[in-house]
Amino acid sequence: MEYQVEIEKIDHFGRGIGKINNKVIFVPHTLKNDIVLVKIVKDKKKFLEGEVLKYIKKSPRTALCPYSNDCGGCSFIDISYDEQLQIKKEKVKDLFKKELGIPIKIEEVISDSNTNYRNKIRLHGKDKKLGFYKEKTNDLVTIDKCIISKDEINSIIKRLNSVIDNNIDEVAIRSNKEVMLDIKGSISKDIVLNNFKDIDTIYLNDFLIKGEGYITEDILGKTFMISNKSFFQVNTKVCSKIFYNIVNYLKEKKYHNALDLYCGVGLIGILISDFVDSVTGIEVVSDAIKNANQNKKLNKVNNVNFICDKVENRIHEFRDVDLIIVDPPRSGLDKKSITSMIEILPKAIIYISCNPNTLVRDLKDLLEHYKMERFFIADMFPNTYHVECVGLLCLKETSKSLEK
Ligand SMILES: C[S@@+](CC[C@H](N)C(=O)[O-])C[C@H]1O[C@@H](n2cnc3c(N)ncnc32)[C@H](O)[C@@H]1O
Repeated sequence: MEYQVEIEKIDHFGRGIGKINNKVIFVPHTLKNDIVLVKIVKDKKKFLEGEVLKYIKKSPRTALCPYSNDCGGCSFIDISYDEQLQIKKEKVKDLFKKELGIPIKIEEVISDSNTNYRNKIRLHGKDKKLGFYKEKTNDLVTIDKCIISKDEINSIIKRLNSVIDNNIDEVAIRSNKEVMLDIKGSISKDIVLNNFKDIDTIYLNDFLIKGEGYITEDILGKTFMISNKSFFQVNTKVCSKIFYNIVNYLKEKKYHNALDLYCGVGLIGILISDFVDSVTGIEVVSDAIKNANQNKKLNKVNNVNFICDKVENRIHEFRDVDLIIVDPPRSGLDKKSITSMIEILPKAIIYISCNPNTLVRDLKDLLEHYKMERFFIADMFPNTYHVECVGLLCLKETSKSLEK
């Protein structure tokens, strides 16, 4: 059955919201004031989910990306950039209100270019074609370029498409100061080396076939080595602005011993090392810790140490830290780590989060002892619904008596 729906507004995930017989329906790929014919794909107790069959009236679009309807990676792409930022701000404010019952003052919304920002993408191959998987499926959406990725990445996509007569199952392209390719599939080493003579580092089926095995990136005057298995922030410009703010905040304070939890290649620990007496970084991926130790040497830093383990296994060992910085994956902190943080009770906690839902969940416990001194958000992933949040938490006066 088909229904005509007028889209009234956009939700936090970039889906249009309308109504059918007074029941709310969420419709992807629509904008405010669109009138669409939809079919219902999910009928839940409180809401419906629909799919557009036909646009009857279409609001103006920015039309930045030819693949946006199929790819689904950039669910905000048709929304003007100012409105995207506004939606992200509202999303975070609503979550704080709903989950924590408090208004949150967002003091800044950090942003930079909304296109050509990604320094890393992963493409899949199927039937000798490269592309992204359509959201929640293994259906390939073949692409020639990705407008949110850096130009260097797009030129490599074109070149990969010209050698795709060979089967590539998956390829990760990283473009920082140098370029790295990490290819998996049945393509010969000679073909790769002949076609990508200018690429600095190449892995083929997990073997290093060219270069030193790492590339580098400069952030706030420090240099970081990154190998194929190590995490690195995908938006270098926005990441630099976030850490500029954090470093400035630390310049005003005096903390002695810091923990950098989920430290990756040691980025935060090394950036803050000039402003504290000591830092210990903990990270589970061994290649990232290898990079972190290389980065420590490269930047001539000698007050930082790195441990390769899960945060939850080691955090309790650090009783005398007065600053804890956490930058967890989307799943947020686990209960054991939160309990340890509250036992350690440092003077300050800096929580960098790529998922506001898990951030507010974790803050429920932390805000019993800490007050939010400063809070800002950053648009690390323009044109997608994702938003990065940074909270600077200070120990409450009432909890100070619990300090050891
Ligand atoms: C969002 S990244 C942050 C990396 C780093 N802070 C940076 O800015 O580059 C999260 C990191 O946590 C690591 N990780 C995930 N689960 C972990 C755990 N349980 N214990 C330690 N590290 C973990 C991941 O490998 C990844 O490097």
